[in-house]
Amino acid sequence: MSQDRGRAWLCGIWFCHKASSAYTVGAMRDSSKCRVLLGVSGGIAAYKSAELVRRLSDAGAQVRVVLTHSAQAFVSPLTLQAVSANPVHRDVLDEAAEAAMGHIELARWADLVLIAPATAHILARIAHGLADDLLTTICLATEAPIVVAPAMNQQMWQAPATQANMDVLRGRGVHILGPGTGSQACGEVGPGRLLEPDVLAKAALAVIPRRQGALAGQRVLVTAGPTREALDPVRFISNHSSGKMGYAVAEAAAVQGAHVTLVSGPTHLSIPAGVERVDVVCAKDMFEAVMARAAHCDIFIAAAAVADYTPRVVAASKIKKKDDVLSLELTKTRDICAEVGHLEGGPFTVGFAAETDDLKANALGKLERKGIDMIAANQVGAGQGFEADVNALDVYWPSGYSRIDPALKQVVAYALWDIIIERMRAGGRLLSEAAR
Ligand code: PMT
Repeated sequence: MSQDRGRAWLCGIWFCHKASSAYTVGAMRDSSKCRVLLGVSGGIAAYKSAELVRRLSDAGAQVRVVLTHSAQAFVSPLTLQAVSANPVHRDVLDEAAEAAMGHIELARWADLVLIAPATAHILARIAHGLADDLLTTICLATEAPIVVAPAMNQQMWQAPATQANMDVLRGRGVHILGPGTGSQACGEVGPGRLLEPDVLAKAALAVIPRRQGALAGQRVLVTAGPTREALDPVRFISNHSSGKMGYAVAEAAAVQGAHVTLVSGPTHLSIPAGVERVDVVCAKDMFEAVMARAAHCDIFIAAAAVADYTPRVVAASKIKKKDDVLSLELTKTRDICAEVGHLEGGPFTVGFAAETDDLKANALGKLERKGIDMIAANQVGAGQGFEADVNALDVYWPSGYSRIDPALKQVVAYALWDIIIERMRAGGRLLSEAAR
C-alpha cells in the first residue's frame, strides 16, 4: 500500500494523513476564517496567550481577545492587540466598546469561545452562571461552543469544589482541554499546567465545524477503559487503560449529533455531555452489555482494552500466601469486537489494535480475523497509547490506510471520525434517520 500524503482541511488546521494513493482523507472543508474569541483570565500561564493568538492565526482563525481584570496583571492589552491585530476588550461598561463591538455583538461574532488560561475562579464563575465581567457575560450570551483550558496550582485543580464545577461545565457541553501534568510555576508538580499553545490551538479549532452534525441521528456504541477480571474478592487482573481514547471518541460522536452509548470499564473519567454510559467491570459484563445493543446501533467502536483471558475459577475467599510460586489457570474471554464484526447486517465496526511490535501486520491480521470494517492501530508501551493524553493512529480498512499524527486524544478522535464518515459515505452506509 503506498503512503502518499493526503491532507484534510479542518477549519484552518491541516490534519496530516498518509493515505493510500487512491484515497485522500476528507474533502476540503470551508476554509473561510473561523472567528475565535479568546478569553484570557488571570493566571501566570496568561503569558502564553500571545503565542496562542499566533498559533490560532497561523491556522487561519480571526482572533479577538477579552482580558479579565486580573489577567491584565500578567499580560499587556497592547501585546495582545498587536498579535491579534484587533482591539482588546476588557469591560462590559465601556462606552467606546459598546458603540463598536459590545458584549452581545462579541458573543454573536464568535464561532468559538476559547478560555485559556482558565483559572479556578473563572471556571467557578462560569459554572455558576455569573455575569460580573465581560468574559462571563459573553459566556452566558453566546451560542458558540465554549472550550476551556484550565491552568492552576495542582491542589486547586484537584479540590472537590473545582472538580464539581468541571462536572457542571462538562454536563453543559463545555469542552475541556487539559490541564497538562508537570512542574508548575509555584514549584509544585502535578496536574494544572496550561497545554502548549500549538496543541491547544489545534484541539480548540477541531471543535468548530462539528456543530453541523455529520453524525446526526446515528446510533453509536463505544467501548472504553479496562476490564477487571477477579481472582478472589480482593484482587483482579487488569491493564493500564484510562478510558481517555474511548471517551474522546464517544464525546466527538455526540458533538457531531450521534446518539451515543458508552460501555465503560472502571475509569476515573466523567461522562461526556450527551452520552449515555453503561458501567461494567469484567469482560463478560462488557460482552453482555455490547451484545444487547449491537444489533440496534449503526456504528460500533471497540476502544476498550478487554482482557483476553480471565481466571477459570474465582476464589470465594482471599487467596492466602503459601507457596513460593502461585499458578493461575486462565480461560479465553469471548471476543466482543469479532462477535459484532460477524453479526449479519451488523453495525459499521471499528476495532482498535494495541501493539508493542509489528503494528501493521498485527493490525491487518485483526482486521481480517474479526471481520470488521476498520482497525485503528496504536503503538503502546512506556508513556504511549495507554494513559497518555496524546495518541497517534494507523487506520486500516480492507482497501486503504490513513495515518493520524500525534495529537491530543480529543483531536485524534475527531480525525478518526472524519475517516469513518468518509468510508461509510463511500460504502453508502451513512444513512440519514429518514432513510433508515
Ligand atoms: O484508555 P486509554 O488509556 O486512553 O488508552 C487507549 C487504548 C490504548 C486502550 C486504545 O487506544 C486501544 O488501543 N484500545 C484497544 C486495546 C486492546 O485491547 O487492543 P487488542 O489489540 O488487544 O484488541 C483488539 C480489539 O479487540 C480491540 O478493539 C478490543 O477492544 C477488542 N477486544 C479484545 C478482546 C476481547 N475479548 N474483546 C474485544 O472486543
